[in-house]
This record gives sequence, C-alpha cells and structure tokens, in this order.
Amino acid sequence: MNSISGKKIILGVCGSIAAYKSAFLLRELQRADAEVRVVMTPSAANFIAPLTFSALSRSQVYMDMFPEKSTSMGTWHIDLGLWADAMIIAPVTASTIAKLAHGIADNFLTSLVLALRAPLVIAPAMDVDMFVHPATASNIAKLMERGVHVIQPEEGELASGLSGKGRLPEVDTIMKYMNDFFLGYHRDLAGKKVLVTAGPTQEPIDAVRFISNRSSGKMGFAVAAAAANRGAEVRLITGPVGLETPQNVSRENVGTAEEMFTALERNVDWCDVLVMTAAVSDYRAENIPDRKIKKDEFAGGKASVSLVENTDILKALAPRKGNRLFVGFALETDNVIDNAKRKLKSKSLDAIVVNNPRVEGAGFGTETNKVTIISGRDESQTDLPMLSKYEVADRIFDHILTLH
Ligand code: CTP
Repeated sequence: MNSISGKKIILGVCGSIAAYKSAFLLRELQRADAEVRVVMTPSAANFIAPLTFSALSRSQVYMDMFPEKSTSMGTWHIDLGLWADAMIIAPVTASTIAKLAHGIADNFLTSLVLALRAPLVIAPAMDVDMFVHPATASNIAKLMERGVHVIQPEEGELASGLSGKGRLPEVDTIMKYMNDFFLGYHRDLAGKKVLVTAGPTQEPIDAVRFISNRSSGKMGFAVAAAAANRGAEVRLITGPVGLETPQNVSRENVGTAEEMFTALERNVDWCDVLVMTAAVSDYRAENIPDRKIKKDEFAGGKASVSLVENTDILKALAPRKGNRLFVGFALETDNVIDNAKRKLKSKSLDAIVVNNPRVEGAGFGTETNKVTIISGRDESQTDLPMLSKYEVADRIFDHILTLH
C-alpha cells in the first residue's frame, strides 16, 4: 500500500557525500505521488547543486535565510513548517544533528525545523567515529526523546575509506521506512512507556542442547515497532531470534525464562503498558550438567530429562501491576476462546490476544496473523481479519487506548 501518495513532504539535504542519494530519494517520493519541497543547508551545495533539486522538483529550493533577490516577507520557513505533513532530512550531518538537539537556528533548514509542526524523520550519514562519538550519540538520543524518528545508518564502507556504521541507507530502505511511517503514524502513544517481550526462551538441558519452541519473535517485534511509530518509548526484551531491532526501540536479549523474568522485574515499574508476546517455556531442566550428556548415559535406547516448572511471569508480576495495563498473548489449538478467557482471569490481564496456529497464515513464523482480542473489562471479543503482524500490532494498540 502506498501511504506516501498525496503527502506534502519537505526533503532536507545536508552537506554529506551521501547528498547525491537525496536526488534519487526526491524522484522516488515524487513517483509515489508525494508533493516535495527541497531545503538545503549551505554546505550541502558543496556536494550537489541546488539546480539539480529545483529541476527535479520543478520548484524553488530553499537554502538562503536572506536571499538577495527576495521580495517576500522572509517567513518562508514558517510557511513551509505549516505546509508539510512530514519532513525528512536525508542525509543529516553530525553538525546539523547537534544544532537540532540544541535548537540552534542559524540557517534556513535549522530555522524551519524549529517552526515545523509536522513530524520529523532524520537519516544520519557520517564517518563511523563521528557517529559513535558520545556527543553525536547523546544529541541523537535527545532528539529521539523529543519524538524525532531516526532512520539508523547502515554498516559498510564509508567515504573515508573506513568501514563501520554511518552509511546512508539505500533509497529503497528510506522509502519503505517512510511508507511504514505514514501507515502506522499516529502520535497517540506519545509519552507512554511500552514494555514488550518477544520470541521464544531457550532452556538448556546440558552444555550444548536446549528445549525451545517455534516462536519467531515477529509478532513481538511488530508490536514494538508499532508502539515506537506511534510515539511511545519502547523497551523490547527478547529471546533468541534472528530479527533486526525496530527503529527507536531499545532492546535487551535474554535466553531462558528465568532471565526474561529477571529482565522484566527490572523494567516493569518503568512501564505504562506491558505486552507479553513471548512464548515463554513453561518448564526447564531440573539439572543442567555443564558438559555434553553422552548418548550412552541413557540405558535401553530411551532418554528422559526431568523438568521443573518455570515461574509464570505474568502471574508473578501481577502484584506490581498498579495502574499499568498488562496484555497477554495466548496460542490455543483447542477451546480457543474459553482457554484464553481463563488465562485472562488467572493472569489478571487487561486484554488477551489469542490466535490459533492451525489457521492458515496465523501463528509461528508467518508474516500475517489472525487474532481475537478479548477485553479484560467485559470479556468482549474483537475478531480481526487476517492482517500483517504490523497491522495486528496497530489494532492491539487501538484497543489498548480504549482501555486507558
Ligand atoms: N507467560 C508467562 N510466563 C510463563 C508462560 C507464559 O508470563 N511462564 C505469558 C505469555 O507470554 C503469554 C501468556 O502468559 O502472554 C499466555 O501464555 P501461554 O503459553 O499461552 O499460556 P500458559 O500459561 O503457559 O498456559 P498453556 O501453556 O497451558 O497454554
């Protein structure tokens, strides 16, 4: 779905070797039917001519705060700030990031950002040492706390010849981000702190083996991404999965159910909303030798491992719930709704999201899910159609907001 169509977008360009990619980005945004105005910093003009952008956008390029031939009142930065649905600065340099973090308005672009009413997305591009410098890191953190969306730079070869994090992502990646951004973009979770768990846990049975389950973590990562896109501050505690951390989400990796429990105990007081999508192992091995168990340790071709029950994390956290909203997930193959309702009550939840992995397109590893949300207030059911996991996550937050 093209969510960029019809949007009024300001494309900001700073002085980076990656500025040439902005011309391609402009073309792609226009191809997606966005109306684009280009704003450059004076140093960007050292890398790419304003004429390139004015020819491509068939519009004037804004760069000078006080253009010599101007006949206007000099309030374009205010006018543009009101006009836009969103602004994206790609590439943004360490210097402009620092100015934005401190509210410095010393050129057209930085002044415009102060006057901007629409959301701001920035895509940093710089040398790896500049990117990881504590000054840049703290400036970016400051902007994120203020709700600025950051498209993380990619790892790779840099203009300096060094290799590391700092490359502007390819135009396709930025376009996908902008599409997701407009799809899931509401600021209705701004100021909320959302804690999400995802993935399976792994319970070792010896030094090299473990018991686990098929959870891919996709649902939990979608929940974290949707919350972040809607303006929440998001912490994600995840079991072992092969997924990239969503934008603007802080992630902690855990292995076992006990580690997940410990991480949640540390974070639960911080949150307003807890969404437990993790497929926590109910049992762990009673004894875990710190060596590999040999095949012939078991007699008669039969092996057994003695298991003991893990803590039920949601139940254990219930006394610390206070005004927080707790949302659980349930995977049920039989008596789906009845079982989910039982869990809703026994785990003191405000809502439970249930799915049946026997339904095609639902459950482990798929990109889609088909769920029912049961409200803790009155046990009312909301049956959602088959949706992408991101859209399911969005609908869960729509529901959570009705509970608040
Ligand atoms: N959960 C938990 N701690 C556990 C097991 C599960 O907090 N030790 C959470 C899950 O993250 C999920 C909800 O409880 O949000 C329901 O998990 P599920 O595995 O469906 O339920 P169980 O209570 O384990 O019951 P059963 O396995 O018998 O279906």
